[in-house]
Amino acid sequence: MTSRLKLPVIAPLTDGFARRISYLRISLTDRCNYRCTYCMPEEGMVFRPRADLLTFEEIERLLTIFAGLGVRRVRLTGGEPTVRADILELVSRLAAIDKIERVVMTSNGHRFPELAGPLARAGLAEVNISLDTLDAERFRKLTRRGDLTRVIEGIDAALAAGLTVKLNAVALKGENDHEIATLCQFAWNRGITPRFIEHMPMSDGQLYSVQQQLSASEIRGVVASHFGCELVPDSDGDTTLGPSRYWRLDGPASGAKPGRRLGIISAMSEHFCDTCNRLRLSAVGELHTCLAYDDATSLRDILRAGGSDDDVRRSIVDAVAGKREGHQFQLTGDGAPMKHMIAIGG
Ligand code: 5AD
Ligand code: SF4
Repeated sequence: MTSRLKLPVIAPLTDGFARRISYLRISLTDRCNYRCTYCMPEEGMVFRPRADLLTFEEIERLLTIFAGLGVRRVRLTGGEPTVRADILELVSRLAAIDKIERVVMTSNGHRFPELAGPLARAGLAEVNISLDTLDAERFRKLTRRGDLTRVIEGIDAALAAGLTVKLNAVALKGENDHEIATLCQFAWNRGITPRFIEHMPMSDGQLYSVQQQLSASEIRGVVASHFGCELVPDSDGDTTLGPSRYWRLDGPASGAKPGRRLGIISAMSEHFCDTCNRLRLSAVGELHTCLAYDDATSLRDILRAGGSDDDVRRSIVDAVAGKREGHQFQLTGDGAPMKHMIAIGG
């Protein structure tokens, strides 16, 4: 007789395009102590009330379920994740979850002078710190309130605490393109890999302008001509399967040692959707299977309606089955989702 028993969901999570999901980004808050111009509008941001945010217990429960489905790495984002109260307790609880191999964070670095050591002790392995410019005035303008000195102290504190550090710069023509080589040198002097991100049109395209768009190949051109080197692909040793493609300086170098690396996240010009291994959980518990679309499944609502782990699992599996093949971002800014980057955390 054929068994009619309902089989449990079997790990790992795989979507309709045979992409295996192993990485979850969790936004801890939609708030930030900075106000970067490309991330959020100057006025009119409505932040979610605290009661809407996932509690630590809910985050822990959801991550345990995701781990059972094959998620191995988790990145905490925001807004700014370090503005969430009791962040140290949360990091240690998440790092202790069975099968979660690595808890990492993306941060603006502002609170790292104080928090780097305690975060490392709580189990954080790595931090990507956003640094778009080394000019204090420009930094203040871009972040609408940031403090460059503190962020640099934060980077050094993260290194001193033994965290793996990467630097993220959103590349913007007419804004920081003339600083690309300086940012590389700043990072290399500290043994860090710099990464440049192509600007993506979020916020219904309103914070985006095609004139500012700097493509991956333009970024490579700037680096190659500044240092008098070729750039050759170098993804060796990169086990993160992240969106960044790595490049190494090759050939006779002027001003930088050959072998120096940089990463480029070319979401627009050379997109990497075919190898996407990730999901995003917003601060209010909505599961987004792609950064570029507004649709989402509220896992929080299932939890708060008294749903079981199996109910949550089924919802995750259904959402993943519907994960889109790729984004529809256009260079013109068309195809941008309505949501702001600050609400989803990159
Ligand atoms: N396009 C590309 N990157 C962005 N970030 C924020 N907004 C955008 C955007 N519109 C970056 C932040 C941070 C990372 C999470 O995403 O600078 O480094
Ligand atoms: Fe805050 Fe990061 Fe957005 Fe800047 S990019 S406003 S630091 S969340």
